Amino acid sequence: MKLTKHVDFTGSMNPGMRIFDIIMRTEYGTSYNSYVVKGEKAAVIETVHADYYEEFLERIEDIVPIAELDYVVLNHTEPDHSGSLVKLLEKNPKIQVIGTAVAIRNLKNITNMEFESRTVKTGEQLDLGEGVVLDFIVSPNLHWPDSMFTYLKKDKVLFSCDVFGSHFCEPNVLDKYVKNPEILRGERWNYYNCIFSPFKRFVLNGLERIKDLEVEMICPSHGPVLVEYIKESMEDYRNWSEENENKFAAIFYVTAYGYTEKLANTFKEALEEAGVSVKMFNAIECDPGEMAAALNESKAVLFGSPTINRDALKPLWDVISCTEAMNVNKKPALSFGSYGWSGEAVKMLNNRLSDLGYDVEENGFRCVFSPTEEDLDNVKKMAKEFAAKLS
Ligand code: FEO
Repeated sequence: MKLTKHVDFTGSMNPGMRIFDIIMRTEYGTSYNSYVVKGEKAAVIETVHADYYEEFLERIEDIVPIAELDYVVLNHTEPDHSGSLVKLLEKNPKIQVIGTAVAIRNLKNITNMEFESRTVKTGEQLDLGEGVVLDFIVSPNLHWPDSMFTYLKKDKVLFSCDVFGSHFCEPNVLDKYVKNPEILRGERWNYYNCIFSPFKRFVLNGLERIKDLEVEMICPSHGPVLVEYIKESMEDYRNWSEENENKFAAIFYVTAYGYTEKLANTFKEALEEAGVSVKMFNAIECDPGEMAAALNESKAVLFGSPTINRDALKPLWDVISCTEAMNVNKKPALSFGSYGWSGEAVKMLNNRLSDLGYDVEENGFRCVFSPTEEDLDNVKKMAKEFAAKLS
């Protein structure tokens, strides 16, 4: 499908996919986007998942015989983009593969084969002839350390790989034809949240690097090509990545008989009295995505679990498993819970939180069955001391 004078879409649709990268639900499937850019010479930008190689090859050959393909540019090497590279290279070993230094190193280990390669840095170009020149803009951690943008000035097209992508597929490819733009925006947020929320600082760096480019089309590697929602997507990415000034403490709890809930409510009230904003979540009732976002955006976390069968409860472990460990940076954490006889939950939560890099209140708070007035006074005291650490 022709996108501009020099760019064709050669990607593949996977409308049936429902889980991506183990962690992401994909209600609307996905697409593995690939593009051919052609001047006198031809470059493929991104390949597709290996399962789609045959149809991918046919699409490329509608534009250029594979024997005449000169380059493959990989902005990022995760196998959803590099998956068909080996087969392309087997067909035409003369193809030169272009990427950042980290990308080329990754590809040696992904393909386990020798190939022609060129390592590029920001400011370097690939001249395809007829005035068709690709500019490379290295921008790491979008989403791996290997990543870069590629820009085609002649047609004002930015190839952004995972950035601005979405797990969404409709056959028309362009965002302006999408039947329900709100669903698309929701999926763009879902994609950002799952893939980029651990890399907000790098997203902002990336946006800075492309802010002066004249862009009339963004070609991401998943989901619709953007022509209608370019500005909105860039603004969304900036807003989602900027630090939230009104940071809060997040309390996650589960409760069997209401005892641990009583502790949670007391922590909440005492923290608020001490001037700390609090968001509180019953981990059984609340939306997992909302809890994951609060977990990672908060300035402190509290986990409340009863002990049942010598362990903390699964809904709490599920929340903790959403921690973006690289961004924890000694964030204050506190565990609490009611128990009947053995009471291991608090210690177990503390151990895990400590391993993830949280600054954990050593003993947390435990009480036997229903908290007494004295217990609740102690909770208030502990909350006050905890709040002092957050100011
Ligand atoms: Fe679409 Fe990070 O790969």
